[in-house]
Amino acid sequence: MLIRKSEGWEIPEREVTPEAVYWNRRQILQSAGLLAASSLVGQPKPLYPAVKNEEFTVPAASLTPDWAASGYNNFYEFDPNGKETVKDLVDKFVISPWQIQVSGLVKEPQMYDLDDLLKKLPLQERVYRFRCVERWAMVVPWTGFPLASLIKLLEPKASAKYLRFVTASRPSEMPGMKKAPYPWPYFEGLRMDEAMHPLTMVVTGMYGKPLPKQNGAPVRIVTPWKYGYKSIKSIVNIEFRTSEPPTFWNKLISSEYGFYSNVEPKKPHPRWSQAVEQMIPTMERRPTMQYNGYEKFVAGMYNGKEF
Ligand code: MTE
Repeated sequence: MLIRKSEGWEIPEREVTPEAVYWNRRQILQSAGLLAASSLVGQPKPLYPAVKNEEFTVPAASLTPDWAASGYNNFYEFDPNGKETVKDLVDKFVISPWQIQVSGLVKEPQMYDLDDLLKKLPLQERVYRFRCVERWAMVVPWTGFPLASLIKLLEPKASAKYLRFVTASRPSEMPGMKKAPYPWPYFEGLRMDEAMHPLTMVVTGMYGKPLPKQNGAPVRIVTPWKYGYKSIKSIVNIEFRTSEPPTFWNKLISSEYGFYSNVEPKKPHPRWSQAVEQMIPTMERRPTMQYNGYEKFVAGMYNGKEF
């Protein structure tokens, strides 16, 4: 018999308050079999909304409204100076078809079509806390799959110890790239155990719909115990490698942004305290949580120094 183990990131559905109507309607439809009805008549099953994974939700927190999470963004390729403006600058960005180059220490380095990958990797929905290094925070229902499932599919070699991710670089579609002299394209990295951790997600949607372009369509990473800049958007390359990859923000300002970037309330940013976070859109202040509330699950990967 399969016994489902309860994890500490779970909360009862009733504690997720503001968008309760959204969840309830979906659950009623799902239990009545209505959301799956199209598969009965031979149509491909729609990807969204995906099945909700009840193991991943957030203690005593409320969901951020969809309009706030998709209207207040950091995506420097579109606007290095604004957040509310990003959503109005993404129109020209072409997100389909989308290919990801897998390179380095894997069985078969090759180009993958995202749609083909999605046929092999079933989507699920998880609610995560998200904390930007600038202190704003949100709680978002992401749709995607564990990065570990993709890594297993790609069959890395034993010598692969790190992953490097790179964002699309299309100055003609991304107006911010010409505005700031940054080391484009945006690049990030994870250690293999971080990438394999069950919390690390490859995300293709949010709020039961495909990702808006401003949130990193069509595919991004989400590592909820790290500052948001580790959650790289619109990925076109994944490289498996032996050495720690350089990262965009570390290259720009190494004294302020390290490789690990784990959320640590007691370690101030050189220019501001990290003790408190502000929930968008109300900017209500709350104490920052160690590893953004995921300490129990991720602290074992670190020796207490990697922040
Ligand atoms: N990825 C790319 N390619 N470019 C960016 O500017 N900004 C990062 C991260 N990923 C960024 C990126 C930062 S600083 C944050 S806080 C999050 O994206 C914001 O994600 P959101 O806009 O979906 O909230």
